[in-house]
Amino acid sequence: MAKSSALASIQISLVLLLAIVVCLEVNLLDPYCCYRGKETKITAYVQLFLGGPNVTTVPVAGALGRPRIPEEFGTISVNDARLTEGISINSLTVGRSQGLYVSASRDNVNSFDLFSFLFTNAQYNGSTLEFQGPGLDLQNVTTVREVSVVSGTKTFRYAQGYATFQTVLRRPAMNYTVIRGIVTIRHY
Ligand SMILES: *[C@@H]1O[C@H](CO)[C@@H](O)[C@H](O)[C@H]1NC(C)=O
Ligand SMILES: *[C@@H]1O[C@H](CO)[C@@H](O)[C@H](O)[C@H]1NC(C)=O
Ligand SMILES: *[C@@H]1O[C@H](CO)[C@@H](O)[C@H](O)[C@H]1NC(C)=O
Ligand SMILES: *[C@@H]1O[C@H](CO)[C@@H](O)[C@H](O)[C@H]1NC(C)=O
Repeated sequence: MAKSSALASIQISLVLLLAIVVCLEVNLLDPYCCYRGKETKITAYVQLFLGGPNVTTVPVAGALGRPRIPEEFGTISVNDARLTEGISINSLTVGRSQGLYVSASRDNVNSFDLFSFLFTNAQYNGSTLEFQGPGLDLQNVTTVREVSVVSGTKTFRYAQGYATFQTVLRRPAMNYTVIRGIVTIRHY
């Protein structure tokens, strides 16, 4: 009796040891295996006017003697646009997208973007997300761009993640463009 229970406890110990070893290995191989925070996915639409009375995006600096347009290497543009829940211009406002876009590659292909989402909707009111990295493909606006999310505030403290941006509507005659952002972040 005592012998078989000792054997059973050795077996249990072995199983436990094996479980610990497996867990450690999984841990080492996949640093995200045991993430215990929240993962949040947010879809929002950026309502852009590239000209006209309600312009949202203005070039503010550029290389000396070169045209100050977004497609020209060195041009810096400032952006302040409404963020909406849906694609329509009449859709509910959820915040604003504000920041800088720099034409940052000598072949005029990539921009370097540094911008924030400032939420004003009931769910995330007062919280922000911070984006940074190569963004717009200046030669082909239909390309899906992936930008990193480097931080956040309030609800999104310690946020990290990524976002994809895609132009989903273009009305050049009205200077009107809508970009869909799908943001995936992990935070606490
Ligand atoms: C579009 O932008 C251009 C340049 O700013 C401007 O001249 C034109 O009036 C704008 N059109 C509309 C419909 O806002
Ligand atoms: C500019 O904004 C005003 C106020 O929101 C709006 O009434 C007007 O229709 C807008 N104009 C254009 C060309 O989008
Ligand atoms: C968001 O917060 C501001 C400032 O605290 C407040 O005035 C506003 O009513 C809030 N908006 C919503 C949708 O809760
Ligand atoms: C733009 O990018 C899209 C998607 O990546 C591709 O299908 C299309 O052929 C490209 N257009 C040009 C003019 O390069």
